[in-house]
Amino acid sequence: MPDHAVRTILVTSALPYANGPLHLGHLLEQVQTDIWVRFQKSRGHHCSYVCADDAHGTAIMLTAEQSGISPEQQIEQMHAEHARDSAGFLVEFDNFYSTHTEENRFFSELIYTRLRDRGYIVQRDITQAYDPEQGLFLSDRYIKGTCPRCKTADQYGDNCEACGAAYSPNELIDAVSALSGARPEQRESSHFFFDLPQFTELLRGWIGQGALQPQIANKLNEWLEGGLREWDISRDAPYFGFEIPDQPGKYFYVWLDAPIGYMASHRNLCEREGLDFDSYWRPDSSAELHHFIGKDIINFHGLFWPAMLSAAGYRMPTAVHTHGYLTVEGAKMSKSRGTFIKARTYLEHLDAEYLRYYFAARLNGAVDDIDLNLEDFVQRVNSDVIGKVVNIASRCAGFLRKQFDNRLSAECSEPQLLLEFTSQGETIAQYYEQREYARAVRAIMALADRANQYIDAKQPWVLARQEGGQAETHAVCSVALNLFRILMVYLQPVLPAMAQKSAIFLRAGMNWEDRRQTLLGHRIEPFKPLLTRIDTAQLKAVVNASRE
Ligand code: 2FM
Ligand code: ZN
Repeated sequence: MPDHAVRTILVTSALPYANGPLHLGHLLEQVQTDIWVRFQKSRGHHCSYVCADDAHGTAIMLTAEQSGISPEQQIEQMHAEHARDSAGFLVEFDNFYSTHTEENRFFSELIYTRLRDRGYIVQRDITQAYDPEQGLFLSDRYIKGTCPRCKTADQYGDNCEACGAAYSPNELIDAVSALSGARPEQRESSHFFFDLPQFTELLRGWIGQGALQPQIANKLNEWLEGGLREWDISRDAPYFGFEIPDQPGKYFYVWLDAPIGYMASHRNLCEREGLDFDSYWRPDSSAELHHFIGKDIINFHGLFWPAMLSAAGYRMPTAVHTHGYLTVEGAKMSKSRGTFIKARTYLEHLDAEYLRYYFAARLNGAVDDIDLNLEDFVQRVNSDVIGKVVNIASRCAGFLRKQFDNRLSAECSEPQLLLEFTSQGETIAQYYEQREYARAVRAIMALADRANQYIDAKQPWVLARQEGGQAETHAVCSVALNLFRILMVYLQPVLPAMAQKSAIFLRAGMNWEDRRQTLLGHRIEPFKPLLTRIDTAQLKAVVNASRE
């Protein structure tokens, strides 16, 4: 039992689009979140981790059309693939749902009608580009043309990749629809807007409450200073999504119902597990709500979503934790260089725990980009996880099996050393809590070094051959395995499969408080390999298989 109050925590990571496979960028976020959730569970808190596929929008509708299947078939296939790949990386959702569900329709309609009835929805006519051949309105990304500033051809409707200029699509020279090549027409249609400016003061207060990293709070405050604008929450048919109540032919914009998907997934979990949904979501809830996201979507999670929640009579998020992008070898992931690595491709060649460890070793609580440097990856995993941690167990297990019938000594010869290890627990816990995983990993590896120094100094392999050295060999190996156990408790959020194997090997619990209970006179199981070294050839195979 934890010696602190039990918290009730709901955690989410961003909902992946049901429009393509997961890649390592998605996994950076899911692994970051999963480590935090496993840590909270290990500490004895009641923590639920929900996610879902983000199943609506024009892109998904068009992808399905191109593959000759219905959007429903498309999102079903993607859901199965995403669930499989996340699980492959040992990301353990309590629920992985979809935004195309009855729960999500219910909450989207409910929230929308509350906003409408409370006077937060305004209707206005707007003029937009329309593709007469495809018969649909075009968002900026579906319009292409020549940059008005540098005259580079084939640029998207909102910004130029060559010179970085930002513009509106009607400034593009010779604009065409990226879908049909037709010249877009300007057409008028009626849209619904969420009146965000009414929530400026509310958001200022919420942003000031420490729910966000300082860098993100500053960015949002800048936006508040610049003045918020009404947010268009509707799209015209044809669209794959939920129709707006009493507005035939008008659909909720995918970004309206996407974050509501967090609630829908949670509601579905609550139904299944008999949890009290309302106690999480009512305004005075004592449950915590944490969202993990990437820095490209802070406007949705730092402005629209908290405002919508509050406007509809729900609680606001406790915290939004933002991470940077994943780069590979110092650059944006690239298909031609083979560094755009799909989750599936990685898993076909390498163990998930290598990458979990590497991400943990690189992640801090800031919004910086994280680089996956392939040489550093191999080196760190091999030298830390295998060379330092696994090594402690593998060096000592043999003696225990051969000479002591797999039973640990009845007494502990180094209580002070064990205390040194257990007492680091609170510091390491603080690092995890603050998402300073790199610091947690450094502290754990410093302890692993300490354990190895102890073994090196005692030299059980020499003791074992000395006359009368039996008792000491037994004592040393038993201490070492107890140290190893404490290290695995600390690493369990990062390396859950290895921790599970260690739990079986040692016949011992791996929760945070379990570390205080020394294993004495305790029978263990025969040692089996926990994790093997990465072979650079496996990594090369991943890069080769990713090259297009
Ligand atoms: O950016 C994205 O990939 C979106 N699908 C994330 C949605 S997160 C949440 F709001 F639903
Ligand atoms: Zn340009």
